[in-house]
Amino acid sequence: MANFFVRGGTALNGSVVISGAKNAAVAIIPAALMANTPSTIENVPDIRDVHTLVAIISGLGAKVTRLDKHTIIIDSSELGCPVVPYEAAKRMRASYYLLGALISKFPQVTVSMPGGCSIGARPIDQHIKGLRALGVEISAENGMIKATAKKLTGTEICFDTVSVGATINVMLASVYATGTTVLENAAKEPHVVDVANFLNSLGADILGAGTDIIRIKGVKTLTGRSYSIIPDQIEAGTFMLGAMATRGCIEIKNIIPRHLYAITDKLKNIGAVITEFDDSVCIQAPVNLSSTNIKTMPYPGFPTDLQPQMVALLSLAQGTSVVTEGIWENRFKYVGELIRLGAKLQVNERTVIVEGVPELNAAPVKAPDLRAGAALLVAALAASGTTELESVEHIERGYENIVGKFCGLGANIFVVADPLKSSEQTA
Ligand code: EPZ
Repeated sequence: MANFFVRGGTALNGSVVISGAKNAAVAIIPAALMANTPSTIENVPDIRDVHTLVAIISGLGAKVTRLDKHTIIIDSSELGCPVVPYEAAKRMRASYYLLGALISKFPQVTVSMPGGCSIGARPIDQHIKGLRALGVEISAENGMIKATAKKLTGTEICFDTVSVGATINVMLASVYATGTTVLENAAKEPHVVDVANFLNSLGADILGAGTDIIRIKGVKTLTGRSYSIIPDQIEAGTFMLGAMATRGCIEIKNIIPRHLYAITDKLKNIGAVITEFDDSVCIQAPVNLSSTNIKTMPYPGFPTDLQPQMVALLSLAQGTSVVTEGIWENRFKYVGELIRLGAKLQVNERTVIVEGVPELNAAPVKAPDLRAGAALLVAALAASGTTELESVEHIERGYENIVGKFCGLGANIFVVADPLKSSEQTA
């Protein structure tokens, strides 16, 4: 484990290439297990969550061959009776996708209750509701979820709340169900669409992904294919916010600009000049940032996964901004750390009031979770002096080579190993 030492104050300049989307990869890898023949997955981000997931499925008997840093072949032909133990599942939230993916193939699957960033209660009642409606019997005991199914039958399922995880999980389980499954009030995130596109490329029959009604006609078989994961819009947004915070000018390559509309719209509001191309954007920060108000929402609204980084940026705006968290009940754990850097923030339930300050100043800070860590990094890049950032393993779960990428844009970040820390972290 290591700490980052960030010498702030340098405007970011140059270009950065965005990696594959973490939240698509962690669903597509389990989905690949559903095919009868191997799939080649390209543009896989080289991040800790993917390494953890690959270790989990390898432990279940899948054969994973790494062709290069970003390409893996997944062969599930030797997959055994699936039991995902606590030690593995506690490390990452997305281990719950193994439930939906594998119950479509095996009569019984046991998965430990998932871990994940500590940003709220994170119930999985909607996953369970959907799976039960398809005919899966589910029981939970000693932290393990046991799913049993003789036969899965398509049906209509209306989610009580918009959930990315439940939409994907139930979509996975429906692919081999008899008849048609209709998911209503489905999540519309780009990674939901990416998983559906992947499954369709294998032979699934899924219509409507990207809208709030998804129709899945059951099929009998899926055949492995090559598929390239979409770019990570949250990583792209984080770099845009880094450029803004340091008053820089950067080009962000390998992205789908329409996935970033909610972000580009807000950044234009506060003064950014953004030029969009087919698969890249250029962002030029203004001299002075304006304040704004934001509420995080399911896609296509402003993403909760950029809320902490946006608060870091608005700390440096002129005037007062109000940022409301519309998805998670406890995603302001980083606020105390940003205050240590000189930000003026006040949390009131799900809202943080951000009173802009002219500058931030270095201090030792600790990342409480993945996106909060990214927010502290954005703030540190803009702060004067050298900030020591602890618990960066959270950041490395979801950002590929973040130090190398920021340093490629002119940032000064030094990684110093901390031998006293263990690698036991949840994802
Ligand atoms: C996914 O989490 C992402 N994780 C999260 O990204 C992201 O913040 C979140 O979607 C929202 O966009 C992965 O894709 C692995 P949800 P997920 O189910 O699927 C409530 C990051 O930083 N809910 O869409 O777990 C829930 O409490 C991570 O990359 C229920 O009530 O989120 C929340 O308030 C953090 N019952 C809301 O729905 C359920 O059964 C949205 O959660 C499920 C969810």
